[in-house]
Amino acid sequence: SVLAGAGADLAGRRVVVSAGGTREAIDPVRFIGNRSSGLQGYALARVAAARGASVTLVAANVSLPDPAGVDVVRVESALQLRDAVIDAVADADAVVMAAAVADFRPVAPRLTKIKKTGDEPEAIHLTKNPDILAELGERRRAGEKSPKVIVGFAAETDDVLANGQAKLARKGCDLLVVNQVGENLAFGTPDNAATVLVAGGEAVEIPRGPKDDLAGVVWDLIAARLV
Ligand code: CTP
Ligand code: CA
Repeated sequence: SVLAGAGADLAGRRVVVSAGGTREAIDPVRFIGNRSSGLQGYALARVAAARGASVTLVAANVSLPDPAGVDVVRVESALQLRDAVIDAVADADAVVMAAAVADFRPVAPRLTKIKKTGDEPEAIHLTKNPDILAELGERRRAGEKSPKVIVGFAAETDDVLANGQAKLARKGCDLLVVNQVGENLAFGTPDNAATVLVAGGEAVEIPRGPKDDLAGVVWDLIAARLV
């Protein structure tokens, strides 16, 4: 990268970032989705590349141009995102799961468009998706080859810090970046604010500011764990 120079503290590092939100097919024209724009994940990828890292960005349904110098893998569903992330982390130093992954998917997506025949809609039966972040943590705990640093994101609407701490422990990751949803923050906006929960450490407060700035703090915390 032309940006990789003296300040390239991630030079020689391989990192994986997931971004955007998964879509789970109901039928050929409809899906279950979420409000993630991909902006924060793209900021993470851009900033890592600018600091010299070799970046794979697994992007789920993001309408943003590919960041320069970043290897972009486009996916749609949680199952596709899982396969792409597991594939990409094979020789990575760090992985950041910024994507919003659907917790459930329709058991059997219809092969043809559902018509509104009859008065009562048919129920859509759901099944659980794999938890990719928890799987990354479990693989590491089991002593399998793993990125050294595993980072999760969490958007919470209430009991933000308590929910975040429980989630950090449950997922077995090193850092959990917790957003408060609402107040025009997070989804689709250029700004973000967050608290980074550190496993076995203290929380780091990131005040409201551009998503690139938040990405910079997250990479600072990751870089400190890679030395
Ligand atoms: N995540 C994942 N796979 C899933 C669901 C979530 O890898 N099936 C990751 C997200 O990318 C994020 C982190 O886990 O980095 C937290 O996601 P979140 O939805 O907040 O956590 P959940 O465990 O799904 O809990 P909740 O019940 O609050 O949705
Ligand atoms: Ca979830």
